[in-house]
Amino acid sequence: MTETQKRFDKSAYIETYGCQMNVADSALMTDVLETAGFRMTEELTEASLILLNTCAIREKAEERVQSRLQQLTQLKRVRPDLVLGVTGCMPKHLGKELLDRLPKVDLFIGPDSYRHLPRLVEEAQEKPTLSLRLDDEDYSDLSPVSIEGIHAFVPIMRGCDRFCTFCVVPLTRGREKSLALRDVVRQVEDAVAKGVRAVTLLGQTVNSWHHGEDRFVDLLRAVSDIDGLARIRFTSPHPVQFGEDVFALIAERENLCPHIHLPVQSGSTRILDSMKRGHTREEFLELVELIRRHLPDVGLTTDIIVGYPGETDEDFDETLSLVERSQFDSAFMFRYSPRSGTQAYRKLRDLEIPDDVSGARLSRLIELQESISVQRFARWEGREVRVLVEGPSRRNPRNAVGKSDDGKTVILPGGPEAGDLVDVRIEKTTSHTMMAFGIEEKNAEPATEVMEV
Ligand code: SAH
Ligand code: SF4
Ligand code: F3S
Repeated sequence: MTETQKRFDKSAYIETYGCQMNVADSALMTDVLETAGFRMTEELTEASLILLNTCAIREKAEERVQSRLQQLTQLKRVRPDLVLGVTGCMPKHLGKELLDRLPKVDLFIGPDSYRHLPRLVEEAQEKPTLSLRLDDEDYSDLSPVSIEGIHAFVPIMRGCDRFCTFCVVPLTRGREKSLALRDVVRQVEDAVAKGVRAVTLLGQTVNSWHHGEDRFVDLLRAVSDIDGLARIRFTSPHPVQFGEDVFALIAERENLCPHIHLPVQSGSTRILDSMKRGHTREEFLELVELIRRHLPDVGLTTDIIVGYPGETDEDFDETLSLVERSQFDSAFMFRYSPRSGTQAYRKLRDLEIPDDVSGARLSRLIELQESISVQRFARWEGREVRVLVEGPSRRNPRNAVGKSDDGKTVILPGGPEAGDLVDVRIEKTTSHTMMAFGIEEKNAEPATEVMEV
């Protein structure tokens, strides 16, 4: 055994960036490491293994990790046995060039190699180690479920086959692979046995999940049949793969939430075509109508990119008008970020939009969506909603915080505990929070804070 190996005490710290899939992957890595005798710590300076589980979706995501790494490499001065690793989408996206770019990092692991983490960490104690192969790994026999309090993220598929022109995900996570229905059900049942009351099923195009004869609607029905689950959500579905049967089932089942995150990306058919999204503006608007017909009180949210290469003022106006017509409850809005390896990067570089133009468009879009969110939340004032309580509010522990079934954060008077389903009357709203009275205590003080939790 070498000196470095002798001092290495198998304490590990993981920091997570990016989407919910990465949150679930960090839970998976924790499980793999603990099984191999590692002890997880929340204290960065105590750890002999530090992993940053990274995202590559936009340039900013990668920049954040690079500056964090600069800080962390300083720790090596006081802890020469420290193994510093970068996992997830960024090493897969940037590949071998990272060995030169980040010489102080010992370990680079892509999303399909987490099973081999203990062996790779051992190798990395001796020399820089890289494992970026993508294969048919689905981790279905492991524990890829991330539990926090009463909520769990449950990946039901990995990878993506759609290759939208702007997106690195198919490059970083490989082809789509769905878990078997029985594996998902087993994992959700295990989570419920640990006290989980709400799950979010995860996949990049989650509604395209299929395994053997089973379709997404069958999986939803099976998960909805599990005893003890109060709330089931899924994210993110793709607009072209949605069957009406899914909305009918949500309408019928108490524990399937009328909360749909439906990324649109643009309101211009010309841009949607160029992005290879597979649907037109009109088809998206029809889908929104269909959803509302089945689920009149649906919480509908979306993702939008502005400043995609070649986006004209007219295209952007179409986005504004689609947003106006769709009346989303909220939206994640991004400025286009060129990603190496994608089709848009390879073919449309000369059509890129100047930063000041895309910046101005983003501000206008955010302003419009903010005013719509204010109205969408205000619709609930005076109405009763059922809230699944998540625990005390962090800002004011005398209040509790929870979620309405359509996905809105609700602050309510303290008392109820995590996992309780309580009916409350909404008193006040902002563009991202609702404040409530308990129904039983209409004369009590309402919750008073305005915050995002
Ligand atoms: N699978 C999901 C999206 C996952 S990525 C879907 O297809 O809906 C989350 C969001 O990041 C996307 O919906 C998109 O709005 C945004 N995004 C992806 N690539 C981007 C890029 N190159 N620049 C800016 N935003 C991007
Ligand atoms: Fe990316 Fe498109 Fe796949 Fe979503 S569907 S992950 S945007 S390629
Ligand atoms: Fe980022 Fe990878 Fe998720 S690129 S958004 S962490 S799939």
